[in-house]
Amino acid sequence: FNVPYPINEPVKGYAPGSKERLELQQQLKSLRGLELDIPMYIGGKQVRTGKLERIAPPHDHQRTIAHFHAGDASHVQLAIDAALAARTAWAELPWEHRAAVFLKAADLLAGPYRARINAATMLGQSKNAFQAEIDAACELIDFFRFNVYYMQEIYKQQPESLPGMWNRVEHRALEGFVFALTPFNFTSIAGNLPSSAAMMGNVIVWKPANTQIYSAQVLMELFKEAGVPDGVINLVYVDGPTAGDVIFSHRDFAGIHFTGSTGVFQNIWKTIGQNIHLYKSYPRIVGETGGKDFILAHHSAHPKAVAVAMSRGAFEYQGQKCSAASRVYLPSNTAQEILGYVKEDLASFKMGDVEDFGNFINAVISEVSFDKLAKYLDNAKADPNVEIIAGGNYDKSKGYFIEPTVIVAKDPKYVTMCEELFGPVLTVHIYDENQFEETLELVDTTSPYALTGAVFAQDRYAIDLASKSLQNSAGNFYINDKPTGAVVGQQPFGGARASGTNDKAGSQLNLIRWVSPRAIKETF
Ligand code: SER
Repeated sequence: FNVPYPINEPVKGYAPGSKERLELQQQLKSLRGLELDIPMYIGGKQVRTGKLERIAPPHDHQRTIAHFHAGDASHVQLAIDAALAARTAWAELPWEHRAAVFLKAADLLAGPYRARINAATMLGQSKNAFQAEIDAACELIDFFRFNVYYMQEIYKQQPESLPGMWNRVEHRALEGFVFALTPFNFTSIAGNLPSSAAMMGNVIVWKPANTQIYSAQVLMELFKEAGVPDGVINLVYVDGPTAGDVIFSHRDFAGIHFTGSTGVFQNIWKTIGQNIHLYKSYPRIVGETGGKDFILAHHSAHPKAVAVAMSRGAFEYQGQKCSAASRVYLPSNTAQEILGYVKEDLASFKMGDVEDFGNFINAVISEVSFDKLAKYLDNAKADPNVEIIAGGNYDKSKGYFIEPTVIVAKDPKYVTMCEELFGPVLTVHIYDENQFEETLELVDTTSPYALTGAVFAQDRYAIDLASKSLQNSAGNFYINDKPTGAVVGQQPFGGARASGTNDKAGSQLNLIRWVSPRAIKETF
């Protein structure tokens, strides 16, 4: 059994009249009028508590598309028990079997599940068809296929043996269960966090964000059809503190695979620290957290390239990618030209429902997020030191719509240059074109995060200087390209500083965190 090096899943275009667009529209149509009843999945069984919570599309919040059955602490305990009961058989299965399961998951997702997962991501998370396709379909297919390849490389790495000796390393699963706590903004991340740890032989308790349950259920069915045995991945919907109380005080808690906010991750880390004496082993803590991602243009940068990176890198999926640009530094010589192009681009963006494929901008995820963003916009409107040069309006009467907004701030430490907003708001600071070095310092020190960043320059010395000066400022660093859209197998993704543990998603570095190797020496 030899898994060949994978190729990235080709992105479908969904052109008007194309077969894939018709299929996706058909899928969306078949969901119209349905109110799905979404259970938890524990030990392979569907669990219905009758404590129903409503799911509505963020772009049409009065329309109910599903209810999910919320659980409590007892369901978290049941999920742990089911995981531990499944552990030995799964962990002892030769890795080729687990590889076969996740390669099948990739093929199912590329084929019969593709329209379904895209439609669920569009409706539940308000992603347009293209954003759903590159996330829920292509990126997750790539995670499965590349991780299987990397897994094979890990298992095949064996030490040297001298004559009369057999040295070997067993890359064993962790002793216990792994908790996957997943975000709303990428269906692929929600699928990757439980599956990458499971691939290495671990058993999982998975708690998705409530705002992603609609597509999480499709993933759970995909896992089952691909052959993930009952109990290996258990899906529960329980509020964070309740789940945390049960999980982080359990002796068999072996690790957490997390994507979410910095504050939540830091609290989890503290809790694990306080409880460290309870656990059988030191738990693995792997997390991707916040960001305040930048674009910095040098005076030699191509103005149009910077503008395209700004409008795409900041506003795709309403700025809710952890990689989205949210602060920009433009040189005085070309700033107005760049901003002119950005305004032209934004004027062409249509905003609205995901079912109209012409809409580039859809809704932000929730009312909480909408209200927070609206407040930042109100404050900016009232502040004489900043100017809103595009957008600035919002409306939540039908869906949580915020216009893509560009704020120009004189003060490089203006609040929206520093704080993570997680929405379609981009703040620009114009610097004296002769002060590039000082601006590099500013980029590095303005935020505690280090997730993504992009530098634009034609001047080779400027590129080299920026790469060196910003070496710790972004785990994913782009030169003359936008800071979003990392591709599995090409740009492994993850940040440092307050942005995470930097165990790159879709890499050996990540998979290796989910094993506890045993080195064996035998003489004969
Ligand atoms: N991988 C995504 C991107 O690069 C973020 O999670 O945009």
